[in-house]
Amino acid sequence: MNFQLTEEHLAVQAAAREFAQTELLPGVIERDEHQKFPAEQIKKMGELGFLGMMVDPKYNGGGMDTISYVLAMEEISKVDASASVVMSVNNSLVCWGIEKYGNEEQKQKYLTKLATGEIIGAFCLSEPEAGSDATSQRTTAEDKGDYYLLNGTKNWITNGSSASVYIVIAQTDVAKGHRGINALIVERGMEGFEIGPKENKLGIRGSDTHSLMFTDVKVPKENRIGEDGFGFKFAMSTLAGGRIGIASQALGIASGAYELAVKYSKERKAFGVEISKHQAIQFKLADMATNIEAARLLCLQAAYDKDTHADYGKSGAMAKLFASKVAMDTTIEAVQVHGGYGFVKEYHVERLMRDAKITQIYEGTSEIQKIVISRELLK
Ligand code: CAA
Repeated sequence: MNFQLTEEHLAVQAAAREFAQTELLPGVIERDEHQKFPAEQIKKMGELGFLGMMVDPKYNGGGMDTISYVLAMEEISKVDASASVVMSVNNSLVCWGIEKYGNEEQKQKYLTKLATGEIIGAFCLSEPEAGSDATSQRTTAEDKGDYYLLNGTKNWITNGSSASVYIVIAQTDVAKGHRGINALIVERGMEGFEIGPKENKLGIRGSDTHSLMFTDVKVPKENRIGEDGFGFKFAMSTLAGGRIGIASQALGIASGAYELAVKYSKERKAFGVEISKHQAIQFKLADMATNIEAARLLCLQAAYDKDTHADYGKSGAMAKLFASKVAMDTTIEAVQVHGGYGFVKEYHVERLMRDAKITQIYEGTSEIQKIVISRELLK
Protein backbone atom coordinates (compact mmCIF):
# COMPACT_ATOMS: atom_id res chain seq x y z
CA MET A 1 0.00 0.00 0.00
CA ASN A 2 1.09 3.53 -0.66
CA PHE A 3 -0.47 6.45 1.20
CA GLN A 4 1.71 9.05 -0.53
CA LEU A 5 0.06 11.57 -2.82
CA THR A 6 1.92 12.13 -6.10
CA GLU A 7 3.51 15.43 -7.14
CA GLU A 8 0.52 15.97 -9.46
CA HIS A 9 -1.96 15.37 -6.65
CA LEU A 10 -0.13 17.82 -4.40
CA ALA A 11 -0.08 20.40 -7.18
CA VAL A 12 -3.85 20.09 -7.75
CA GLN A 13 -4.47 20.33 -4.02
CA ALA A 14 -2.29 23.44 -3.74
CA ALA A 15 -3.95 25.09 -6.75
CA ALA A 16 -7.43 24.44 -5.33
CA ARG A 17 -6.40 25.76 -1.92
CA GLU A 18 -4.92 28.89 -3.46
CA PHE A 19 -8.03 29.47 -5.56
CA ALA A 20 -10.35 28.96 -2.58
CA GLN A 21 -8.41 31.33 -0.35
CA THR A 22 -7.90 34.11 -2.89
CA GLU A 23 -11.04 33.92 -5.04
CA LEU A 24 -13.75 32.27 -2.96
CA LEU A 25 -13.12 33.54 0.55
CA PRO A 26 -13.67 37.23 -0.26
CA GLY A 27 -17.42 37.80 -0.34
CA VAL A 28 -18.45 34.31 0.76
CA ILE A 29 -20.42 35.66 3.74
CA GLU A 30 -22.28 38.19 1.57
CA ARG A 31 -23.06 35.61 -1.11
CA ASP A 32 -24.53 33.36 1.57
CA GLU A 33 -26.51 36.22 3.12
CA HIS A 34 -27.98 37.39 -0.19
CA GLN A 35 -28.19 33.97 -1.84
CA LYS A 36 -25.94 35.21 -4.62
CA PHE A 37 -24.72 32.63 -7.10
CA PRO A 38 -20.90 32.81 -7.42
CA ALA A 39 -21.05 33.38 -11.18
CA GLU A 40 -17.65 35.06 -11.64
CA GLN A 41 -15.95 32.55 -9.38
CA ILE A 42 -17.50 29.61 -11.24
CA LYS A 43 -16.29 31.09 -14.53
CA LYS A 44 -12.75 31.22 -13.14
CA MET A 45 -13.07 27.67 -11.82
CA GLY A 46 -13.91 26.61 -15.36
CA GLU A 47 -10.89 28.44 -16.75
CA LEU A 48 -8.66 26.69 -14.21
CA GLY A 49 -10.06 23.29 -15.17
CA PHE A 50 -12.03 22.55 -11.99
CA LEU A 51 -15.33 21.92 -13.76
CA GLY A 52 -14.25 19.05 -16.01
CA MET A 53 -11.38 17.62 -14.03
CA MET A 54 -11.76 13.97 -14.99
CA VAL A 55 -12.93 14.48 -18.56
CA ASP A 56 -10.66 13.20 -21.34
CA PRO A 57 -8.50 16.04 -22.75
CA LYS A 58 -9.89 15.25 -26.21
CA TYR A 59 -13.19 16.70 -24.93
CA ASN A 60 -11.37 19.66 -23.31
CA GLY A 61 -11.18 18.08 -19.86
CA GLY A 62 -8.32 17.86 -17.38
CA GLY A 63 -7.78 14.11 -17.77
CA MET A 64 -7.21 13.81 -14.03
CA ASP A 65 -8.03 10.98 -11.67
CA THR A 66 -10.74 10.86 -9.03
CA ILE A 67 -8.19 11.30 -6.24
CA SER A 68 -7.28 14.72 -7.65
CA TYR A 69 -10.99 15.54 -7.75
CA VAL A 70 -11.45 14.58 -4.08
CA LEU A 71 -8.46 16.72 -3.08
CA ALA A 72 -9.75 19.72 -5.01
CA MET A 73 -13.32 19.29 -3.73
CA GLU A 74 -12.02 19.25 -0.15
CA GLU A 75 -10.08 22.49 -0.57
CA ILE A 76 -12.90 24.34 -2.35
CA SER A 77 -15.49 23.09 0.17
CA LYS A 78 -13.43 24.27 3.14
CA VAL A 79 -14.26 27.79 2.04
CA ASP A 80 -17.38 27.77 -0.12
CA ALA A 81 -19.66 24.74 -0.29
CA SER A 82 -22.02 26.66 -2.58
CA ALA A 83 -19.29 26.79 -5.21
CA SER A 84 -18.26 23.19 -4.60
CA VAL A 85 -21.74 21.79 -5.21
CA VAL A 86 -21.72 23.45 -8.65
CA MET A 87 -18.33 21.82 -9.23
CA SER A 88 -19.53 18.43 -7.99
CA VAL A 89 -22.72 18.33 -10.05
CA ASN A 90 -20.95 19.52 -13.21
CA ASN A 91 -18.03 17.10 -12.84
CA SER A 92 -19.55 13.94 -11.50
CA LEU A 93 -23.16 13.96 -12.58
CA VAL A 94 -23.25 15.86 -15.86
CA CYS A 95 -19.78 15.53 -17.45
CA TRP A 96 -19.20 11.99 -16.23
CA GLY A 97 -22.70 10.86 -17.25
CA ILE A 98 -22.33 12.21 -20.78
CA GLU A 99 -18.75 11.01 -21.19
CA LYS A 100 -19.53 7.51 -19.94
CA TYR A 101 -22.90 6.93 -21.59
CA GLY A 102 -23.41 9.63 -24.22
CA ASN A 103 -22.70 9.18 -27.92
CA GLU A 104 -19.97 10.97 -29.86
CA GLU A 105 -22.32 13.72 -31.14
CA GLN A 106 -23.54 14.44 -27.60
CA LYS A 107 -19.95 14.58 -26.35
CA GLN A 108 -18.90 16.97 -29.11
CA LYS A 109 -21.97 19.14 -28.72
CA TYR A 110 -22.23 19.32 -24.91
CA LEU A 111 -19.28 17.76 -23.11
CA THR A 112 -16.63 19.89 -24.82
CA LYS A 113 -18.32 23.02 -23.44
CA LEU A 114 -19.32 21.59 -20.05
CA ALA A 115 -15.75 20.46 -19.38
CA THR A 116 -14.40 24.00 -19.65
CA GLY A 117 -17.24 25.63 -17.79
CA GLU A 118 -18.25 27.58 -20.89
CA ILE A 119 -21.65 26.21 -19.95
CA ILE A 120 -22.70 24.35 -16.82
CA GLY A 121 -25.07 21.46 -16.38
CA ALA A 122 -27.83 20.26 -14.04
CA PHE A 123 -29.02 16.78 -13.13
CA CYS A 124 -32.78 16.48 -12.79
CA LEU A 125 -34.00 13.37 -11.00
CA SER A 126 -35.87 14.55 -7.88
CA GLU A 127 -39.55 15.38 -8.07
CA PRO A 128 -42.15 16.60 -5.57
CA GLU A 129 -43.05 12.95 -4.92
CA ALA A 130 -39.87 11.17 -5.99
CA GLY A 131 -36.91 11.93 -3.75
CA SER A 132 -35.48 8.81 -2.12
CA ASP A 133 -38.01 6.69 -4.02
CA ALA A 134 -36.42 7.58 -7.32
CA THR A 135 -38.21 4.97 -9.45
CA SER A 136 -41.54 6.81 -8.86
CA GLN A 137 -40.98 9.27 -11.69
CA ARG A 138 -44.09 11.29 -12.57
CA THR A 139 -42.37 13.32 -15.29
CA THR A 140 -43.25 11.71 -18.60
CA ALA A 141 -41.35 11.54 -21.87
CA GLU A 142 -43.87 10.29 -24.38
CA ASP A 143 -42.34 8.69 -27.45
CA LYS A 144 -43.55 10.61 -30.50
CA GLY A 145 -41.35 9.03 -33.13
CA ASP A 146 -38.46 11.39 -33.73
CA TYR A 147 -38.90 13.28 -30.45
CA TYR A 148 -40.07 12.87 -26.85
CA LEU A 149 -42.85 15.02 -25.45
CA LEU A 150 -41.70 15.97 -21.98
CA ASN A 151 -44.16 16.93 -19.22
CA GLY A 152 -43.71 17.27 -15.48
CA THR A 153 -41.95 19.03 -12.64
CA LYS A 154 -38.50 18.55 -11.14
CA ASN A 155 -37.59 19.81 -7.67
CA TRP A 156 -34.50 21.07 -5.83
CA ILE A 157 -32.39 21.25 -8.94
CA THR A 158 -28.85 22.47 -8.33
CA ASN A 159 -27.74 25.01 -11.00
CA GLY A 160 -31.47 25.34 -11.77
CA SER A 161 -31.32 28.78 -13.38
CA SER A 162 -27.63 28.96 -14.26
CA ALA A 163 -27.29 25.76 -16.26
CA SER A 164 -27.55 25.55 -20.05
CA VAL A 165 -27.84 21.77 -20.24
CA TYR A 166 -30.18 19.67 -18.09
CA ILE A 167 -30.15 15.90 -17.89
CA VAL A 168 -33.78 15.06 -17.20
CA ILE A 169 -34.92 11.64 -16.02
CA ALA A 170 -38.46 10.82 -17.17
CA GLN A 171 -40.85 7.92 -17.55
CA THR A 172 -41.59 6.81 -21.11
CA ASP A 173 -43.33 3.48 -20.53
CA VAL A 174 -45.07 3.12 -17.16
CA ALA A 175 -45.79 -0.57 -17.76
CA LYS A 176 -42.05 -1.25 -17.79
CA GLY A 177 -41.48 0.43 -14.39
CA HIS A 178 -37.92 1.63 -13.91
CA ARG A 179 -36.94 -0.09 -17.17
CA GLY A 180 -39.23 2.36 -19.00
CA ILE A 181 -37.35 5.45 -17.79
CA ASN A 182 -35.15 7.60 -20.06
CA ALA A 183 -32.45 10.21 -19.52
CA LEU A 184 -32.81 13.16 -21.91
CA ILE A 185 -30.55 16.13 -22.54
CA VAL A 186 -32.74 19.20 -22.40
CA GLU A 187 -31.42 22.59 -23.43
CA ARG A 188 -32.26 25.79 -21.67
CA GLY A 189 -34.64 27.79 -23.85
CA MET A 190 -36.48 24.83 -25.38
CA GLU A 191 -40.11 25.81 -25.80
CA GLY A 192 -42.27 24.81 -22.81
CA PHE A 193 -39.32 24.64 -20.39
CA GLU A 194 -39.83 27.01 -17.47
CA ILE A 195 -37.62 27.70 -14.48
CA GLY A 196 -39.52 28.03 -11.19
CA PRO A 197 -38.67 30.26 -8.24
CA LYS A 198 -35.38 29.93 -6.38
CA GLU A 199 -35.49 28.01 -3.10
CA ASN A 200 -34.68 29.96 0.08
CA LYS A 201 -32.40 27.48 1.80
CA LEU A 202 -30.83 26.81 5.22
CA GLY A 203 -27.38 26.24 3.73
CA ILE A 204 -25.39 26.34 0.49
CA ARG A 205 -27.36 29.53 -0.05
CA GLY A 206 -25.07 30.76 -2.82
CA SER A 207 -26.00 27.80 -4.96
CA ASP A 208 -28.88 28.12 -7.31
CA THR A 209 -31.67 25.67 -6.48
CA HIS A 210 -34.93 25.75 -8.41
CA SER A 211 -37.91 23.70 -9.42
CA LEU A 212 -38.27 23.20 -13.17
CA MET A 213 -41.48 22.82 -15.16
CA PHE A 214 -41.79 21.06 -18.51
CA THR A 215 -44.95 21.51 -20.56
CA ASP A 216 -45.03 19.71 -23.91
CA VAL A 217 -41.31 20.21 -24.43
CA LYS A 218 -40.21 18.53 -27.64
CA VAL A 219 -36.88 16.83 -26.98
CA PRO A 220 -35.26 15.34 -30.09
CA LYS A 221 -34.62 11.60 -29.94
CA GLU A 222 -30.92 12.17 -30.50
CA ASN A 223 -30.84 13.79 -27.04
CA ARG A 224 -31.60 10.52 -25.27
CA ILE A 225 -28.62 9.12 -23.40
CA GLY A 226 -28.12 5.41 -24.01
CA GLU A 227 -30.67 2.86 -25.17
CA ASP A 228 -34.41 3.23 -24.68
CA GLY A 229 -35.20 2.46 -21.02
CA PHE A 230 -31.64 3.03 -19.75
CA GLY A 231 -32.51 6.22 -17.82
CA PHE A 232 -32.86 4.78 -14.33
CA LYS A 233 -29.64 2.80 -14.51
CA PHE A 234 -27.98 5.90 -15.93
CA ALA A 235 -29.17 7.87 -12.87
CA MET A 236 -28.08 5.22 -10.37
CA SER A 237 -24.71 4.67 -11.96
CA THR A 238 -24.04 8.39 -12.23
CA LEU A 239 -25.09 9.02 -8.64
CA ALA A 240 -22.74 6.29 -7.40
CA GLY A 241 -19.82 8.48 -8.55
CA GLY A 242 -21.57 11.70 -7.55
CA ARG A 243 -21.59 10.46 -3.98
CA ILE A 244 -17.79 10.54 -3.92
CA GLY A 245 -18.00 14.23 -4.82
CA ILE A 246 -20.52 15.00 -2.07
CA ALA A 247 -18.51 12.94 0.43
CA SER A 248 -15.50 15.11 -0.42
CA GLN A 249 -17.61 18.22 -0.06
CA ALA A 250 -18.64 17.05 3.43
CA LEU A 251 -14.99 16.31 4.21
CA GLY A 252 -14.03 19.84 3.16
CA ILE A 253 -16.78 21.45 5.22
CA ALA A 254 -15.54 19.48 8.25
CA SER A 255 -11.87 20.22 7.72
CA GLY A 256 -12.60 23.90 7.04
CA ALA A 257 -14.48 24.16 10.34
CA TYR A 258 -11.75 22.24 12.16
CA GLU A 259 -9.00 24.55 10.86
CA LEU A 260 -10.98 27.57 12.00
CA ALA A 261 -11.53 26.00 15.42
CA VAL A 262 -7.80 25.29 15.86
CA LYS A 263 -6.89 28.83 14.85
CA TYR A 264 -9.47 30.42 17.14
CA SER A 265 -8.53 28.19 20.09
CA LYS A 266 -4.95 29.48 19.90
CA GLU A 267 -6.07 33.13 19.88
CA ARG A 268 -8.97 33.26 22.31
CA LYS A 269 -8.09 33.48 25.98
CA ALA A 270 -10.25 32.32 28.90
CA PHE A 271 -9.28 31.83 32.54
CA GLY A 272 -5.92 33.46 31.78
CA VAL A 273 -4.76 31.14 28.99
CA GLU A 274 -5.53 30.38 25.34
CA ILE A 275 -8.55 28.09 25.28
CA SER A 276 -6.43 25.50 23.40
CA LYS A 277 -4.69 24.94 26.74
CA HIS A 278 -7.93 23.63 28.24
CA GLN A 279 -8.49 19.93 27.99
CA ALA A 280 -12.17 20.44 27.17
CA ILE A 281 -11.11 22.11 23.92
CA GLN A 282 -8.18 19.77 23.26
CA PHE A 283 -10.48 16.74 23.40
CA LYS A 284 -12.89 18.34 20.96
CA LEU A 285 -10.04 19.04 18.52
CA ALA A 286 -8.72 15.49 18.92
CA ASP A 287 -12.14 14.02 18.11
CA MET A 288 -12.59 16.32 15.13
CA ALA A 289 -9.16 15.54 13.68
CA THR A 290 -9.61 11.78 14.12
CA ASN A 291 -13.01 11.75 12.47
CA ILE A 292 -11.83 13.95 9.62
CA GLU A 293 -8.86 11.69 8.95
CA ALA A 294 -11.17 8.65 8.84
CA ALA A 295 -13.56 10.47 6.49
CA ARG A 296 -10.66 11.49 4.24
CA LEU A 297 -9.43 7.90 4.01
CA LEU A 298 -12.92 6.71 3.06
CA CYS A 299 -13.16 9.38 0.35
CA LEU A 300 -9.76 8.46 -1.03
CA GLN A 301 -10.58 4.75 -0.89
CA ALA A 302 -13.75 5.33 -2.94
CA ALA A 303 -11.80 7.48 -5.41
CA TYR A 304 -9.12 4.81 -5.66
CA ASP A 305 -11.76 2.16 -6.31
CA LYS A 306 -13.20 4.28 -9.11
CA ASP A 307 -9.77 4.99 -10.61
CA THR A 308 -8.83 1.32 -10.55
CA HIS A 309 -12.18 0.27 -12.06
CA ALA A 310 -13.21 -1.63 -8.94
CA ASP A 311 -16.80 -1.45 -7.71
CA TYR A 312 -17.21 1.86 -5.91
CA GLY A 313 -20.94 1.77 -5.09
CA LYS A 314 -20.38 0.62 -1.52
CA SER A 315 -17.19 2.57 -0.82
CA GLY A 316 -18.73 5.77 -2.24
CA ALA A 317 -21.87 5.31 -0.13
CA MET A 318 -19.76 4.61 2.98
CA ALA A 319 -17.67 7.72 2.32
CA LYS A 320 -20.78 9.88 1.92
CA LEU A 321 -22.56 8.39 4.95
CA PHE A 322 -19.58 8.86 7.22
CA ALA A 323 -18.18 12.14 5.91
CA SER A 324 -21.57 13.85 6.02
CA LYS A 325 -21.99 12.87 9.68
CA VAL A 326 -18.47 14.08 10.41
CA ALA A 327 -19.32 17.36 8.68
CA MET A 328 -22.38 17.82 10.87
CA ASP A 329 -20.66 16.80 14.12
CA THR A 330 -17.49 18.78 13.45
CA THR A 331 -19.22 21.99 12.46
CA ILE A 332 -21.45 21.87 15.56
CA GLU A 333 -18.35 21.44 17.72
CA ALA A 334 -16.49 24.18 15.83
CA VAL A 335 -19.33 26.57 16.69
CA GLN A 336 -19.08 25.42 20.31
CA VAL A 337 -15.32 26.08 20.39
CA HIS A 338 -16.00 29.60 19.11
CA GLY A 339 -18.66 30.17 21.79
CA GLY A 340 -20.74 33.30 21.15
CA TYR A 341 -18.51 34.27 18.22
CA GLY A 342 -19.39 31.00 16.55
CA PHE A 343 -23.00 32.11 16.46
CA VAL A 344 -22.32 35.20 14.37
CA LYS A 345 -21.64 35.22 10.67
CA GLU A 346 -18.20 36.77 10.45
CA TYR A 347 -16.48 33.74 11.99
CA HIS A 348 -17.67 31.42 9.16
CA VAL A 349 -18.39 28.37 11.31
CA GLU A 350 -22.14 28.94 11.59
CA ARG A 351 -22.33 28.95 7.77
CA LEU A 352 -20.32 25.75 7.58
CA MET A 353 -22.70 24.19 10.11
CA ARG A 354 -25.70 25.17 7.98
CA ASP A 355 -23.95 23.98 4.81
CA ALA A 356 -23.09 20.61 6.37
CA LYS A 357 -26.72 19.52 6.71
CA ILE A 358 -27.42 19.13 3.01
CA THR A 359 -24.62 16.59 2.63
CA GLN A 360 -26.79 14.18 4.65
CA ILE A 361 -29.67 14.76 2.26
CA TYR A 362 -28.75 15.29 -1.40
CA GLU A 363 -27.45 12.66 -3.82
CA GLY A 364 -29.13 10.14 -1.56
CA THR A 365 -29.95 10.68 2.12
CA SER A 366 -27.89 8.93 4.80
CA GLU A 367 -30.70 6.40 5.08
CA ILE A 368 -30.42 5.67 1.33
CA GLN A 369 -26.65 5.22 1.70
CA LYS A 370 -27.35 2.60 4.37
CA ILE A 371 -29.66 0.79 1.93
CA VAL A 372 -26.95 0.84 -0.76
CA ILE A 373 -24.28 -0.37 1.69
CA SER A 374 -26.35 -3.10 3.34
CA ARG A 375 -27.56 -4.47 -0.01
CA GLU A 376 -23.92 -4.89 -1.03
CA LEU A 377 -23.06 -6.53 2.28
CA LEU A 378 -25.92 -8.99 2.01
CA LYS A 379 -25.53 -9.84 -1.68
N1 CAA B 1 -25.62 1.28 -11.15
C1 CAA B 1 -26.37 0.77 -12.17
N2 CAA B 1 -27.61 0.27 -11.98
C2 CAA B 1 -28.11 0.29 -10.73
C3 CAA B 1 -27.40 0.80 -9.63
C4 CAA B 1 -26.09 1.32 -9.88
N3 CAA B 1 -25.34 1.84 -8.91
N4 CAA B 1 -28.15 0.70 -8.54
C5 CAA B 1 -29.32 0.13 -8.92
N5 CAA B 1 -29.28 -0.12 -10.24
C6 CAA B 1 -30.30 -0.75 -11.06
C7 CAA B 1 -30.69 -2.11 -10.52
O1 CAA B 1 -29.83 -3.11 -11.02
C8 CAA B 1 -32.11 -2.28 -11.01
O2 CAA B 1 -32.13 -2.71 -12.35
P1 CAA B 1 -32.72 -4.18 -12.75
O3 CAA B 1 -34.05 -4.30 -12.08
O4 CAA B 1 -32.78 -4.14 -14.24
O5 CAA B 1 -31.72 -5.16 -12.23
C9 CAA B 1 -32.63 -0.87 -11.03
O6 CAA B 1 -31.51 0.01 -11.00
C10 CAA B 1 -33.53 -0.55 -9.85
O7 CAA B 1 -32.78 -0.81 -8.69
P2 CAA B 1 -33.49 -1.18 -7.32
O8 CAA B 1 -34.44 -2.31 -7.50
O9 CAA B 1 -32.40 -1.35 -6.33
O10 CAA B 1 -34.36 0.13 -7.04
P3 CAA B 1 -35.06 0.66 -5.74
O11 CAA B 1 -36.36 1.22 -6.10
O12 CAA B 1 -35.02 -0.38 -4.67
O13 CAA B 1 -34.17 1.92 -5.34
C11 CAA B 1 -32.42 3.15 -4.30
C12 CAA B 1 -32.85 1.87 -5.04
C13 CAA B 1 -30.98 2.88 -3.92
C14 CAA B 1 -33.23 3.38 -3.06
C15 CAA B 1 -32.53 4.32 -5.29
O14 CAA B 1 -33.88 4.64 -5.57
C16 CAA B 1 -31.82 5.58 -4.83
O15 CAA B 1 -30.60 5.67 -4.95
N6 CAA B 1 -32.59 6.58 -4.31
C17 CAA B 1 -32.00 7.87 -3.96
C18 CAA B 1 -32.04 8.80 -5.13
C19 CAA B 1 -31.04 9.91 -5.01
O16 CAA B 1 -29.88 9.70 -4.68
N7 CAA B 1 -31.49 11.11 -5.32
C20 CAA B 1 -30.61 12.23 -5.34
C21 CAA B 1 -31.10 13.26 -6.28
S1 CAA B 1 -29.87 13.96 -7.31
C22 CAA B 1 -29.15 15.21 -6.45
O17 CAA B 1 -29.31 15.37 -5.27
C23 CAA B 1 -28.22 16.03 -7.26
C24 CAA B 1 -27.99 17.40 -6.80
O18 CAA B 1 -28.55 18.34 -7.33
C25 CAA B 1 -26.90 17.70 -5.82
